Amino acid sequence: MCPVRRSMLRLNVVTLFPEIFQVAFATSILGRAAEAGVVRYRVVNLRDYTHDRHHTVDDAPYGGGAGMVLKPEPFFEALDDLAARPPIVLLSARGKAFTHADALRYSVGVEATLLCGHYKDVDARVAEAAGVEEVGIGDFVLSGGEAAALCVADAVVRLLPGALGNHGSAASDSFYEGLLSPPSFTRPAEYRGVAVPEVLLGGDHAKIAAWRRAEAERLTKLRRPDLWARYEAELRSTETGT
Ligand SMILES: C[S@@+](CC[C@H](N)C(=O)[O-])C[C@H]1O[C@@H](n2cnc3c(N)ncnc32)[C@H](O)[C@@H]1O
Repeated sequence: MCPVRRSMLRLNVVTLFPEIFQVAFATSILGRAAEAGVVRYRVVNLRDYTHDRHHTVDDAPYGGGAGMVLKPEPFFEALDDLAARPPIVLLSARGKAFTHADALRYSVGVEATLLCGHYKDVDARVAEAAGVEEVGIGDFVLSGGEAAALCVADAVVRLLPGALGNHGSAASDSFYEGLLSPPSFTRPAEYRGVAVPEVLLGGDHAKIAAWRRAEAERLTKLRRPDLWARYEAELRSTETGT
């Protein structure tokens, strides 16, 4: 499905480390999308929403235990200040797994806000706040939500029409049609004894498309049986109209 949008996406980030986003949001596709006017980034520092002399953002966990917990007030005040509307995404290892479907959903909205945690945890009232969804990028623990927020931002922005030189490139990527992408080759036709598949050199577009489809299906079955099962189920329901 090609994303359909008519306005600029406002992408907000709340973080303790705004500097992490400076280069990333000004470089390559993320930077080009901002220059093209399809996205506007607002990165705010969580510490700006504290009211004590030391700009304290964290405190010890109730009930004891190791590590510090980010306080709720700065997050709530940052969201108020941004007048943030859903989706408000709290990056979190315990969140629902982030997928292409989420990237697509965020990309067709007018605004998305990414909240980055740090230290031991974020006060659970942030995750429970209205409009907040807790999203994880994999079964591992990062030191902070910034790297995860960059993954989400990149996955979303590359789907915005005008971000990529050729939107067809995103449309033939993994997950777009529910399958993994087929492998790619470029010149030279043979390198270190490994030849490019003959079919790609012949110029027969129908045969190339069939080969790519077969490779996408083979790789998906082999590496992602979960995706393959979902893909087959969707095909079946399209065929039966259910
Ligand atoms: C050290 S982690 C906290 C991990 C938390 N105590 C737990 O076990 O789920 C600090 C921050 O990194 C971010 N983070 C860590 N792993 C993540 C993941 N897999 N996906 C998204 N964000 C993650 C979250 O924002 C989190 O609040």
